[in-house]
Amino acid sequence: MKKINIVLALFSVAVFFQFCTKTESATVLNKSTSDITTFVTSTELLPTLPATLFDYLDRYPTHVQTALIASDNTPLNNPITNAGATLGRVLFYDKQLSRNATTSCGSCHKQQFSFDDTTALSKGLDGSLTSRNSMAILNIRFYKSGKMFWDERVTTLEKQALMPIQNHVEMDMTLSALEAKVKSLSYYPTLFKNAFGTTTIDSIAIAKALSQFERSIVTYQSKYDRVKQGIETFTTDEAAGEQLFLTAAAPRTCASCHTPPMFITSSPGSGFGLNDPNDNGINNNGNFKSGSLRNIVIRSNLFHNGSVKSVQSMMEQGNPGFGNQAIPLHFLRTAQIPSMMAFLNTLTDNTILTAEKFSNPFR
Ligand code: HEC
Ligand code: HEC
Repeated sequence: MKKINIVLALFSVAVFFQFCTKTESATVLNKSTSDITTFVTSTELLPTLPATLFDYLDRYPTHVQTALIASDNTPLNNPITNAGATLGRVLFYDKQLSRNATTSCGSCHKQQFSFDDTTALSKGLDGSLTSRNSMAILNIRFYKSGKMFWDERVTTLEKQALMPIQNHVEMDMTLSALEAKVKSLSYYPTLFKNAFGTTTIDSIAIAKALSQFERSIVTYQSKYDRVKQGIETFTTDEAAGEQLFLTAAAPRTCASCHTPPMFITSSPGSGFGLNDPNDNGINNNGNFKSGSLRNIVIRSNLFHNGSVKSVQSMMEQGNPGFGNQAIPLHFLRTAQIPSMMAFLNTLTDNTILTAEKFSNPFR
């Protein structure tokens, strides 16, 4: 049954090539659950890839490299390779990976917005909303525990990668439908062969390639990095802001939770988070992880529920989204805000917003 459907899927794609007018659908029987997934394959667009592969194995400055050694969650069986990350890039932006061929990872994790979305909740394949705020896909390699999502419910990035694809609101595919569809697209066999030495296409290899691409998105070219390398110096305001970040409200300093130089903390302990009566969070404690604070100034709709519009408003108002409970940790005195903003601005690395190697290859 499965085989026949794969053949059907391939056939429908072949039909498209001939007429190329409208979208086609195919049905796949999921072996494990017996769920039937009907998916749509839109006219095949080909990704534009460079003749020589992009380099995803950047050399980081010492302070970043040292942090990486201490916190890298790359598993031994999935190191980044240029061919693997290249395949991951194509998969990340391929709308064919969703049931109705409208939504890719890049639809919610938008490059120009630091691989984050610009709304409090994101729209999935049928227009319905996710239950939490999207997270910025940057520096996720520097999270030792490897646990992903605001509530850390997944133990590795590789496991995480298949979840949005199967999530009914986000992309809504079964794994067997995913495999059948990826197999049906002409550009994938070569990409899989280059990445993994075999044309075998399965969800495990898909997850590995997506993870390689995501782990390669690292910000290390900000003013902060140049200062740490001794190439530039902070202004008086920026330096005062860094001091505030490191020392204000000790022992609960910003830095005690958002650890420099990547401004991310692995395995937040109890008391790390903020209590949200509407969301159980990590271990049902109402706590949440925080991703890297790098590029935070150019992101909007912050925190797990997207209730905080910007860092500036966070510092001014705390967070009205948690049942009127202000967040003292995230609340600054008016006089402190300009220097803290100046410092946080130095964490912005604009290179990842436009780098072609991280961009959508389907346009
Ligand atoms: C419809 C919008 C949407 C799509 C499509 C989507 N995501 Fe997400 N992503 C989110 C939201 C929302 C969260 C936070 C969910 C939560 O914590 O419950 C998230 C969280 C994540 C995280 C966790 C990051 C961290 O620091 O813990 C990763 C990694 C991720 N997504 C990768 C992907 C990949 C890979 C794809 C494509 C296969 C994808 N996303 C597709 C909205 C989306
Ligand atoms: C006790 C630990 C702790 C301290 C201290 C702390 N934070 Fe946080 N921070 C968190 C947690 C946990 C989250 C995510 C909470 C959520 O979404 O519910 C967070 C979220 C944030 C966010 C939003 C991140 C995003 O991706 O949406 C910003 C910005 C931020 N913190 C900045 C600061 C600054 C600046 C300070 C110091 C003034 C500070 N934090 C102090 C734990 C802390």
